Amino acid sequence: MRIAIISDVHANIEAMDAVLAHIADQHVTDIVCLGDVIGYGPNPRDCINIVANARFSLMGNHEEAVMFYGEDFNEKARQALEWTKEQLNSPEYDRSENYEMWNFLGSLEESHTEGDVLYVHGSPRVPTKEYMVPQDIRNRDKMTEIFSMIPSLCFVGHSHIPGVYTDNFRFLSPNRIDGKYAHQGGKALINVGSVGQPRDGDPRSSYVTFDGRNVVFHRVEYDVRTTMDKIYATPGLPNYLADRLIVGR
Ligand SMILES: [Fe+2]
Repeated sequence: MRIAIISDVHANIEAMDAVLAHIADQHVTDIVCLGDVIGYGPNPRDCINIVANARFSLMGNHEEAVMFYGEDFNEKARQALEWTKEQLNSPEYDRSENYEMWNFLGSLEESHTEGDVLYVHGSPRVPTKEYMVPQDIRNRDKMTEIFSMIPSLCFVGHSHIPGVYTDNFRFLSPNRIDGKYAHQGGKALINVGSVGQPRDGDPRSSYVTFDGRNVVFHRVEYDVRTTMDKIYATPGLPNYLADRLIVGR
């Protein structure tokens, strides 16, 4: 069985559509989503409608914040959060449709385990909130504790920086391994990167395919300009959220 693992769509429908078209050629049986479908971007409702068809979808910090309170959000993220909340409650839609949006958010799991593979949004320690970034590889206490919570493999998103963390304290960027990682023994944590707001300096969408052993990192070009223009045209979304898309930061 080969699956596609996506994360951090962040209400970017142009990126989501491009990734779906790419996935269509990958011979996968299922798509799973590691959270943050919403937040930052201009199309939260459309992205929820798509991800609702995934085999499973996890709770990200943005879903958590829209339902509860984003106490750790900075000013710009909070502004986008308030705008997103308005969209999900929009009187332009049927009340039942809005209800379905909130129902989807309320149904999300914090983590999901299948065999010896763990799926979370951020990290096994703090599923919705903790970031895994390449510098962590030097933080042996953090890495040791994180790996003690991983059965064999763990897939995460959240930091928007794709790559492989190994239990012998190495970080492998997708470029360095030619986009391919074959898991054989030991433990590994895989960050799948972000569909809708990459932050590794490459503006193309990131996602992975996984067949139980082999992980392949994919990058997909999308119409960044259209998404940026939508953000610029939306007073409730800070321009900065558009500016960063073109540079992938
Ligand atoms: Fe996140």
